Amino acid sequence: MKFEKEIEQLNKEVEALDNQELAEKQHQKGKLTARERISYLLDPETFVELDPFVETRFNNLGLEKKKVAGDGVIAGFGKINNRLVYVFSQDFTKMGGSLGEMHGQKIVRAIEMARKTGNPVIGIIDSGGARIQEGIASLDGYASIFNTMVKSSGVIPQISVIVGPSAGGACYAPGLSDFIFMVEGLSQMYITGPEVVKKVTGEEVSFEDLGGANTHGTKSGCAHFVFANEKECFTQVKKILSYLPQNNMEDPPRQKSILAELFEKEDNQRLLELVPEESEKGYDMKTVIEELFDKNTFFEVQQGFAINSLVGFARLGGVVVGVVANQTKFMAGVLDIDSSDKIARFVRFCDAFNIPIINLVDTPGYLPGINQEHLGIIRHGAKVLYAYAEATVPKISVILRKAFGGAYIALASRKLGYDKVLAWPSAQIAVMGAEQAVKIIYKREIAESKDPEITEKEKIEEIKKLFLNPMQAAKLGQVDMIINPKDTRLILMRCLEPLLTKREGKVARKHGNVPL
Ligand code: HXC
Repeated sequence: MKFEKEIEQLNKEVEALDNQELAEKQHQKGKLTARERISYLLDPETFVELDPFVETRFNNLGLEKKKVAGDGVIAGFGKINNRLVYVFSQDFTKMGGSLGEMHGQKIVRAIEMARKTGNPVIGIIDSGGARIQEGIASLDGYASIFNTMVKSSGVIPQISVIVGPSAGGACYAPGLSDFIFMVEGLSQMYITGPEVVKKVTGEEVSFEDLGGANTHGTKSGCAHFVFANEKECFTQVKKILSYLPQNNMEDPPRQKSILAELFEKEDNQRLLELVPEESEKGYDMKTVIEELFDKNTFFEVQQGFAINSLVGFARLGGVVVGVVANQTKFMAGVLDIDSSDKIARFVRFCDAFNIPIINLVDTPGYLPGINQEHLGIIRHGAKVLYAYAEATVPKISVILRKAFGGAYIALASRKLGYDKVLAWPSAQIAVMGAEQAVKIIYKREIAESKDPEITEKEKIEEIKKLFLNPMQAAKLGQVDMIINPKDTRLILMRCLEPLLTKREGKVARKHGNVPL
């Protein structure tokens, strides 16, 4: 047939680029090759490559001898569980996966095609950063990627998988994406490496400590997911996609009809044992989540960061929801700077992609202290208020025990915009705890009384009776229902179902000024 030989020859040339020797080099570092990564991610035989022959236009500093077709990145589209995704995978064996002008152009094209066609994009990153030999052209390569990523933000899900170095400019592409996946012992993400750090600050640091997966998973909060190896990491990338819509115009995939479960008889008797009545006693909120949502569907985001709060996706009667909860096991579930950032960003993602939000509230409030004030708890705490008030997706809050002060406003106030607020009988909704409140409003009375200790106790009881239950809020119409904990799942489903058609317009403006 005409052209058959020519096409066969071209295909051979592309295949020859991934020779055994280079693959071995990559495997010796404990890494998969760029092409193997794509094949782990995509359904078999679905990958269609774009621009395999594109190469650099530069010949500086020995680059003419290193240049290769494809320019060090494989880009294209394919399917995951039969749903289309765009993907690019940087090839460290070609010029260290460094990003030059054309390499950048290929990535931009993949992201733009993903946005125009309304499909997620997954970037697999293994790169030494801006290609030094191309000078400013490589910096502009990054600039174009950042520009297109920002324009695609909130339109399609953007996921970054870091499986090698992500150095210099390379780390801001993940930084701009919705979710960052990292692998222990393999991923390194930093703006400058240990040598530069030593020169500038005098500090001796390892790659791992500076920007390894655990550093970003627990300290900086940059990584949303950390896994033990690449294969597990790619399996989990596929899993997160099962919770997400293809784009902002679609709903997340539904596994079954919520109506089917509305009539189920199962209740959550176990909840009464899981949550202690004594409000000072901590418990593992994850067990409550497991009990309330469809079995084994909780997919936790930022598991190791700001562990006094929990965020993640789950299913309720087959419907994907975003869960935000206070983890009372750590710091009594207070809201601090890091948990504020974690919650606010998650809520904004859910809102952008039509994912209803369910809060499980049990927190004494924002964390007091000079450290938190100096680090800007006001600025960070404001993000939570902003994110929830701005979100137009269905928002339901369940108050289990404490909902004090600012945290009540942020996580459970109908006036902030919650569609439904449910409270357990054990809910305590107040400006602050009774012990603190007494010291402020009865300070003089207690001091002047015959027996200050007894008076203080009496006053505490008085306040507890008045506020440390959900009745005042229910009478003011700020709590929709006081429910038996065992019925929580069923009532949540009943409340969610009619909210799925909720549509709320936005105020006409260029954009709001979210406190950053
Ligand atoms: C050109 C690069 C490169 C780069 C690596 N290589 N980084 N080529 N530009 N940025 C090449 C190496 O020359 C080498 O080529 C091959 O890739 C493999 O690199 P090695 O150093 O041998 O690998 P390894 O020992 O594993 O070390 C990996 C590394 C190191 C830690 C990533 O290569 C490194 O430190 N690179 C520079 C990282 C960095 O500082 N980047 C920032 C760039 S500035 P040969 O031919 O010998 O195999 C930047 C600013 C943008 O990105 C800011 C935008 C906001």
